[in-house]
Amino acid sequence: MNWPLKKKTNGDGTSNGHIIEMLGITKVYNTGKIKVEALKGIELVVDKGEFVAVVGPSGSGKSTLLNLIGCLDTPTGGSYMIGGEAVAGLDRDALADVRNRRVGFVFQNFNLLPQLTALENVELPMLFGGVGRRERRRRAVEHLERVRLGDRVEHRPTELSGGQMQRVAIARALAMEPDIVLADEPTGNLDTGSGSDVMSLLSELWGQGRTLVVVTHDQTLAKRAGRIVEIRDGLVVTDRRAVA
Ligand SMILES: Nc1ncnc2c1ncn2[C@@H]1O[C@H](COP(=O)(O)OP(=O)(O)O)[C@@H](O)[C@H]1O
Ligand SMILES: [Mg+2]
Repeated sequence: MNWPLKKKTNGDGTSNGHIIEMLGITKVYNTGKIKVEALKGIELVVDKGEFVAVVGPSGSGKSTLLNLIGCLDTPTGGSYMIGGEAVAGLDRDALADVRNRRVGFVFQNFNLLPQLTALENVELPMLFGGVGRRERRRRAVEHLERVRLGDRVEHRPTELSGGQMQRVAIARALAMEPDIVLADEPTGNLDTGSGSDVMSLLSELWGQGRTLVVVTHDQTLAKRAGRIVEIRDGLVVTDRRAVA
């Protein structure tokens, strides 16, 4: 592999077509006396526009990896470049900025704010991203329509089904038009029918040229991805691309 030694962007927010470049990534959690080595040297290079499913047993480090990819947390060791930017060189504010601009997150438990309407939930990242009020509203409505929730904009999370909440979360993840969409077991709390809706929406994003990394136990969802990366005990053990 030809590893770029310093920042080298190609003007399209990638480094030689790579949007994610992880080399020797480790993560150690220190909780009191116990040290947990959650990641032990992850090598992962993802090209712009790939759809990667991350699979593996519970506790193998999948969520830890996704949080690092999404700059929600920082690695203990190794190097990580997102869109040609070295994450290690960024301070907290710069990291938050990269996260807000580049990454959209979808979680198993939706993580919607219960006191806000669907529309307000989708507007939130744009509020943080400095998008003006009218533009925010316009884009939020558009994103909710795209996930077929145009008739639920004023509903609060408690007034929505699980599948609908996850679709709001997808609309929110797309609010800032991120290059990368990360989802951690997005269908884990859904019944088969709504899970399948969510899978279709995620697959559509792939069709639109976005890069997707999805942690899943769901075989059907994993099979939709172009590439399956299997994690065990903090390491990548298999990495296969689907044969077209
Ligand atoms: N915030 C944390 N503090 C301490 N240990 C953690 C934390 N998050 C995860 N771990 C530990 O790291 C390992 C990997 O966890 P995780 O990434 O959540 O795995 P997975 O998503 O594959 O189930 C587990 O042993 C877990 O207990
Ligand atoms: Mg997890």
